[in-house]
Amino acid sequence: MNKTSIFLTLIVISALSLFFISCKEKKDNPDNMMNLPPLKEQFGEYFDIGNIFNPGDMSGGRINNQRLTRHYNILTAENDMKPHRLNPSRGTFNFITADNMVNSAISSGFKVLGHTLLWHSQIPQWQVNLRTDNTSKENALNQMREYITRIVTHFKGRVYAWDVLNEVFPDDRFFEDTNWREVMRAGPQGNPWYIKIGADFVYEGFLAARLADPDAILYYNDFNLNNPGKALMVHNMVRDVNAQYAQDYPGAGLLIQGIGMQSHHNITVSAKSIRDSLELFEPLGVLIAISELDVLSQSYGDFSRIPYTPPTEQGKTRAADLYGEYFEVFLEYADIIERVTFWGVYDEQSWRSRGLPLIFEGRVRSKAKPAYFNIIEALEVFQAK
Ligand code: G3I
Repeated sequence: MNKTSIFLTLIVISALSLFFISCKEKKDNPDNMMNLPPLKEQFGEYFDIGNIFNPGDMSGGRINNQRLTRHYNILTAENDMKPHRLNPSRGTFNFITADNMVNSAISSGFKVLGHTLLWHSQIPQWQVNLRTDNTSKENALNQMREYITRIVTHFKGRVYAWDVLNEVFPDDRFFEDTNWREVMRAGPQGNPWYIKIGADFVYEGFLAARLADPDAILYYNDFNLNNPGKALMVHNMVRDVNAQYAQDYPGAGLLIQGIGMQSHHNITVSAKSIRDSLELFEPLGVLIAISELDVLSQSYGDFSRIPYTPPTEQGKTRAADLYGEYFEVFLEYADIIERVTFWGVYDEQSWRSRGLPLIFEGRVRSKAKPAYFNIIEALEVFQAK
């Protein structure tokens, strides 16, 4: 045997071993997420399936995390496109990491959501200062326009949609006669743009984003939108801002085109409460994104209690069942839901990991939890109708 044939024989033996190992892996681990049919294909007919990504998920200009590339077709940067990262000080923009992430995602076939422009959290000091300094309203308005224009223009054509405004309503109870303009986050931790400019900043902020990128879908994004009072505030704000835009720009369509329902849920959140909010939002004619889905396997009270008590078996089963029930509702509203994005792939990686909130578990090899199978069952039942 000459050197070439020895080399070729070794290659064939290695390839066969790899093949047998992978077959054994499949047979032994049918619930390993890498053996399961891609979620993005299973739900492809109805909506995109997204997840979050971080700088560690890319190398060589591609997304190197196979758990992401297998199952998801849309990505949101978990932290790297937030105001404090993109614009650390006034006039200084830092696009290096975000550019790498966005370009890698696009090269690997993903759509990318821009998250987020106007927020009260994870903001740079110059935006924090606006809460209390003596910048005039007019000056703040110009600063906001400049800031939005610069960032949105930079990512134009690469980011398919933006969370323009994030979490502007606190979690209080609101009623039919509450004016949305008066109840946004103010005070020491409030939204600096609201504090300085007043409720008009919503219209102006969305308008600046629209002018900078006429093709991006512009979203309002918030959590606990299954809470009827909070959902009502969002509904009324979107209705009024879009009415003003229709008056100012007749025939130009909607200014706020989508509502992102973050959906950081727990076992006390019923599928009915989510359906009710979807029913409320539907007449607005906007798209809906389930934008940050995770479900604690316990109540929020238990999750935050000190000392901490881990989820019970009953809690885990309830969360798994709820995932199935939520997806029944999402499928029912598939005509208006454009994306379901999970806030993490597997429990150990989640920002709320101790509450076991995701549909996969296992840091090294992630396997499907009962929640995954309930989601697939919801899909099969829906398709059989
Ligand atoms: O970058 C620092 C690092 O230098 C330091 O060593 C480390 C020590 O704790 O902290 C790191 O920053 C953390 C950052 O995530 C990056 O890992 C922050 O402490 C931590 O608070 C931050 O949490 C993020 C959280 O937003 C902040 O509000 C979560 O990762 C992120 O998942 C979460 O995402 C938000 C959405 O954007 C909006 N909806 C709610 C959701 C949860 O708050």
